[in-house]
Amino acid sequence: MRYEKVTVLNGLGAGDGRYEYMLELLMSELRGVSREVSVITLREKKLTHCVGCFGCWLKTPGECVYRDDLEGILKEYIASDMVVVFTPVVFGGYSPEYKKFLDRIIPLIHPNFGFFKKEIHHKPRYDRYPRLVAVGVQDRHDEHEASLFRTLVGRNAINFHTPSFAATVVSPGDGANLGKAFRGLMEREDPYPRKEDLLPLLMGSDPATSSEARAGRALLIVGSPKKGSSTSAVVGGELLDRLSATGWDTDSITLSPRLLRREGHDELFHRIQGADLIVLAFPLYIDSPPFLVTRAIQLLDEENARSGLLAGKRCFVISNNGFPEAYQNGPAVAICRRFAEAGGMRWAGELAIGSGEALCGGRPLRGEEHQGPPADHVIRALDMVADAIIQGRDTMRQVHETMALSPIPILSFPLWRRIFPMLGKKHWLSDARKYGNNPREMRAHPYAL
Ligand SMILES: Cc1cc2nc3c(=O)[nH]c(=O)nc-3n(C[C@H](O)[C@H](O)[C@H](O)COP(=O)(O)O)c2cc1C
Repeated sequence: MRYEKVTVLNGLGAGDGRYEYMLELLMSELRGVSREVSVITLREKKLTHCVGCFGCWLKTPGECVYRDDLEGILKEYIASDMVVVFTPVVFGGYSPEYKKFLDRIIPLIHPNFGFFKKEIHHKPRYDRYPRLVAVGVQDRHDEHEASLFRTLVGRNAINFHTPSFAATVVSPGDGANLGKAFRGLMEREDPYPRKEDLLPLLMGSDPATSSEARAGRALLIVGSPKKGSSTSAVVGGELLDRLSATGWDTDSITLSPRLLRREGHDELFHRIQGADLIVLAFPLYIDSPPFLVTRAIQLLDEENARSGLLAGKRCFVISNNGFPEAYQNGPAVAICRRFAEAGGMRWAGELAIGSGEALCGGRPLRGEEHQGPPADHVIRALDMVADAIIQGRDTMRQVHETMALSPIPILSFPLWRRIFPMLGKKHWLSDARKYGNNPREMRAHPYAL
């Protein structure tokens, strides 16, 4: 026996019964290498989606403020030697069932930042974390999505301090080779994806699709689940202002569980139907779009197959993340691009923003209400993006170069990254103190056995 305890997170949806036999096969392979194997079927659990309040770091350190089935799952997670994720591959990302859980995993790490694999990530909260193995399933093999999925799992493995990871994608066509594929996973150690692997995912727009200079109707879809204002809403709103100043009609909608339930579909589809350009703006949650966006793109893809809702529209994505490196948004942008292209949309490019919480945090990007370091480079990038959309010019390379700069002109980006963890520590501590928590309490690890 190589492992004492293995936990399988089953991310299949209610309509994914055709993959159950693969899960059974995987379980029998796991029983051969572990003393204890248990499976958690996520769709049967009572789980609400993360609303990005950071209460699990500041108010009740190490525990989510929502009381549902999360606590039991995270206890199993942290007590395991290996966690095995089993999920359909959705445009190279995860199923909504798995993503809903994954967004809630941040109580397992500490808010403070540190350097890990030469990048900024959060510090660990626990002494040890399980090895991560992921099995993605597809109806037919699609190497582009499979490779994106493996990259995403590797990125999660860095964020969650796993000692090692392995990821594979299988499909029913693999037939007799499935058992071999699963056995191969038990010990394999895949290389962690680095900056060089992510930069190509931010490819910018294709000049062939961007040379379209006419005003139209733009719909901003805000995918941040925050209760109040969000960076996604502020930056997306700034882009709409620029478009509207040149004669575009603009509209915006914020994703919510209601819109994604049957009673909200008509409203969502109707607003999309009237738009020429969809601007999808969201925060990076565990290296990928948050649950609400994951569910929305699955839903829109289903509707598109029925009615052709998306075909011919242009799609622009704004992904903002907490860490300073904007390129960490690469997998999330690539997932959206895959969704857009599969739906017959034309890709209009992307704006990937690092240090989103520090530079904006839902407050205006400039003026008296702005807090934190100057966000002038975000404003410059927004001007370029608006130009690209309005005049049909492809300025995406400049946009990415601008977003790779330090917000403070006299500081180089490497220096900005050096001071970022110190600024972050100060910020989190002052917020935690408002709830009566000090640095020792912030380190609580309530799920340790
Ligand atoms: C559940 C959760 C997961 C997150 N995961 C990441 C991550 O993987 N990488 C990152 O750089 N930032 C991550 N962040 C930080 C957010 O991307 C960041 O706070 C962002 O600015 C929020 O944008 P919004 O105001 O539009 O919601 C995460 C935040 C939350 C709440």
